[in-house]
Amino acid sequence: MGDRQRLRVLVLNQISALGLKRLPGDGYSVGKDLPEPDAVLVRSADLHGMEIPPSVKAIGRAGAGTNNIPVPLMTRRGVPVFNTPGGNANAVKELVLAGMLMAARNLPAALRFVDSLDPTMADMDRAVEDGKKAFAGLELAGHTLGIVGLGKVGCLVADAAIKLGMHVFGHDPEITVDAAWNLPAQVKKATSVTEVLRHSDFVTLHVPLVEATRGLVGKNIDQMRMGAVLLNFAREGVVDEAAVLEALASRRLASYVCDFPGPALNRHEQVIALPHLGASTREAEENCAVMVVDQLRDYLEHGQ
Ligand code: MLT
Repeated sequence: MGDRQRLRVLVLNQISALGLKRLPGDGYSVGKDLPEPDAVLVRSADLHGMEIPPSVKAIGRAGAGTNNIPVPLMTRRGVPVFNTPGGNANAVKELVLAGMLMAARNLPAALRFVDSLDPTMADMDRAVEDGKKAFAGLELAGHTLGIVGLGKVGCLVADAAIKLGMHVFGHDPEITVDAAWNLPAQVKKATSVTEVLRHSDFVTLHVPLVEATRGLVGKNIDQMRMGAVLLNFAREGVVDEAAVLEALASRRLASYVCDFPGPALNRHEQVIALPHLGASTREAEENCAVMVVDQLRDYLEHGQ
């Protein structure tokens, strides 16, 4: 088959080979630099402001969020955007658990402390004793986790937290708690974000970034329990960073755990900032690649 007869898929990020190989070579040209592509496949590339050629019939995003894609513009052009809700939910859930444990057990500070020790020092036992006292933490069991956003990730986090012996409060600004995807019965239903903030030792956010969720947690941090931990594995814009810094200074917040580095956050000793690692596992990358490629193929080949 000549190249012009093949469907062209422009791939703007690294996408797992397990997904890409579902585009058979006799029917598809796949590459980083293809003229007049039929489809665009991205992970985190920001398509806002980018010229999207009129030849494009569909866009695929290997991930749940679509805020890096001008969805309303594409909708006006009749171009569907396919994403992969749930494809990386387990990976995000596991990192949220790690985030809670990192904060509860002071792990980043303890690691920095050990790193600062001279390995040849004479009194290592004494240093270990000092560290043991300085970084004593608390257990998750018996504490309350508040979850804002009860989609696939929020529900998996709820389930895992309950199994770890935590009490869980849940709220979703968009859907009723009863309609939440797969919420364990033990989750207490909160009617507002404020109610979640008031009753929780840990609060984790799992909402998409849309106009209604921009700055969802900001001044209302003053409703949180003293010494609470806020986790943001959703999107940077969901939390007002200035309000977080104030709350860290007043010790209202003991820690802010987030999946987005930023100049004011990176070296802050109460902040644990990660480089958008939530979905970065081999399994999640493979799941999302397969899910999104299959959707693109169905649409390109069958129009559905
Ligand atoms: C998501 O929206 O699911 C994540 O941002 C995926 C990713 O890390 O690429």
